Amino acid sequence: MDLTKVTHIDNVRLSDDEKKVRIIDQTLLPNKTEYLELEKLEDLYEAILKLRVRGAPAIGIFAGYAMYVLSLQSKCESFDDFYAEFTKNKEYLDSSRPTAVNLGTMLKRMDRCVLANKDKSRKDLLEALKEEAKAIHKEDMEMCYKISEYGLSLVEDGFGILTHCNAGPLATSRYGTGLGTIMLGTERGMTFHAFVDETRPLLQGARLTSYELEMAGVDTTLICDNMASIVMKQGKVQACFVGCDRVAANGDVANKIGTSGVAILAKHYGIPFYVFCPSSTIDFDCPSGDNIEIELRDPEEIIEMFYTEPKALPQTKCYNPAFDVTDNELVTAIITEKGICRAPYNESLAKLFK
Ligand code: MRU
Repeated sequence: MDLTKVTHIDNVRLSDDEKKVRIIDQTLLPNKTEYLELEKLEDLYEAILKLRVRGAPAIGIFAGYAMYVLSLQSKCESFDDFYAEFTKNKEYLDSSRPTAVNLGTMLKRMDRCVLANKDKSRKDLLEALKEEAKAIHKEDMEMCYKISEYGLSLVEDGFGILTHCNAGPLATSRYGTGLGTIMLGTERGMTFHAFVDETRPLLQGARLTSYELEMAGVDTTLICDNMASIVMKQGKVQACFVGCDRVAANGDVANKIGTSGVAILAKHYGIPFYVFCPSSTIDFDCPSGDNIEIELRDPEEIIEMFYTEPKALPQTKCYNPAFDVTDNELVTAIITEKGICRAPYNESLAKLFK
């Protein structure tokens, strides 16, 4: 089967003239496929904040290209002025969303690239930044492929797999992380039955995951988040697959709100709960999930987004955390590009990556 329509989706890249960042606007999918070309700082910031580009690895890739595009526009003559401006832009983009570590990691990587090339001509410095951003992107493609290969050792033909949020090609590059194994296995002739949590309130499961899986020809069933328990109880699910936004050194995992509930249900029903992530999502500076900042989002996303009329009184108090943390004891394994880690995670993660 040719899956390239979905695994080669052009979610983030430089524009053809290499002066802007080009993204697919994920807020419009699956009904409209529109691309945006962004170059202004405010627009780049807004694209992350409003989830036009989303998914931890894709945000990291976007950040690399964004810093290059902004650097291209600099009118500062001295390196010190250029670097002061670079730092201001970087800190502003970094403030857009707090939970996914990839954003900060890739901004720091671009920063290191500037400092390593500070004595070069501006032209050469810009060239180095462009190459660094492209390297971040290429490495993500390679990591997704390797993660997906490791994932195949955990599944059998015919498995029912439940997934939450979106960790496919749109959130990463090429195969994805949480969906990568399903994509790669399907490409190799395996059959899976995917159960996709719609993922309230922003519906990444309904709008993006089911779209990607349908395009890939995977047998896909969309369920509301509160239906995960019944499909598990009915024996339809043999494994749960999710991506993640930050893995703490002890293996606690921050991912889309609702993920920890899926993990608790999976434990109850004796179903393995697997987390897929590239090494860029592991944060050794963060000892446990308690140290992860959870993004709080606009109440409007709960009360009225996707509804023709508001479904609660405007004064209704809402609590809208975008992520939650799954305790490491609920995680059966963390699948990375270097191999599969199992508890105790502070030892297995450190062994592979430190
Ligand atoms: O708020 P989002 O849509 O950016 O949240 C995305 C997720 O929670 C994904 O599961 C995570 O970033 C992993 S993407 C490979």
